[in-house]
Amino acid sequence: DEHGAVRRDLEGRDLLISAGGTREQLDPVRFLANHSSGRQGWALAHAALVRGARVRLAAANVALETPPGAQRLDAGSAAELAELVAAHRGAVDALIMAAAVADFTAAERSRDKIKKDESAPESVPGIALRRTEDILRHSVLERSRTGAGVPAIVGFAAETGGADGDALSLARAKARRKGADLLVFNDVTAGVFGASENTVRILDRDGEYVAHATGSKTLVAHAVLDALAPLLPEVP
Ligand code: CTP
Ligand code: CA
Repeated sequence: DEHGAVRRDLEGRDLLISAGGTREQLDPVRFLANHSSGRQGWALAHAALVRGARVRLAAANVALETPPGAQRLDAGSAAELAELVAAHRGAVDALIMAAAVADFTAAERSRDKIKKDESAPESVPGIALRRTEDILRHSVLERSRTGAGVPAIVGFAAETGGADGDALSLARAKARRKGADLLVFNDVTAGVFGASENTVRILDRDGEYVAHATGSKTLVAHAVLDALAPLLPEVP
């Protein structure tokens, strides 16, 4: 904690943390991506390791050094990340989806580089997209359907306010829609990607307030783990 004492409260726990941002290839040279740096997921991995957990880090395009002791698993696209999470979530106590996952991918990836039509200078190609799997939602549904599955599931949501409401009400609605045990809500109306400071509110599956944290991504990571720890099953 801030006084330098290390809580080993996650000793013997297995966590699966996704981090970074997926890339959806459109053609051999281009992709759809997002601004996620992977820093929050990395901070979670570091914090969990310090607290004694074993960490599987599902990394989507993260240019950061792997936290010592973490098992790093790389995924490029949303589909690859979905596959990775599906392969590992049966073996962990908690899934933390800190990755920014593309909602859309190319309906069909072009085998050749997409060219512009020189004879029609104003024309633009229509790029057909399709929805990706919602990995978080899928993990929650699998758990409720089978009665087994990951004991604790945490989602993240970066929101700006919009026509449908302010950022907090959107996050509360999302928490209820997603059904994860915790949703870590980040108000990015002022922008946050790549920044080292962070303000989050942690909501439960009913969209109710659980905790909040302002400060470094490390501090936020510990606040998330504090909220997560009581949800983990008893150590046998
Ligand atoms: N998520 C996921 N799979 C997706 C999209 C999102 O697992 N295909 C996860 C993210 O990792 C995050 C949470 O869902 O933990 C919320 O992501 P967000 O993009 O805020 O939610 P969406 O339901 O995609 O809503 P929006 O339309 O606002 O993007
Ligand atoms: Ca999304």
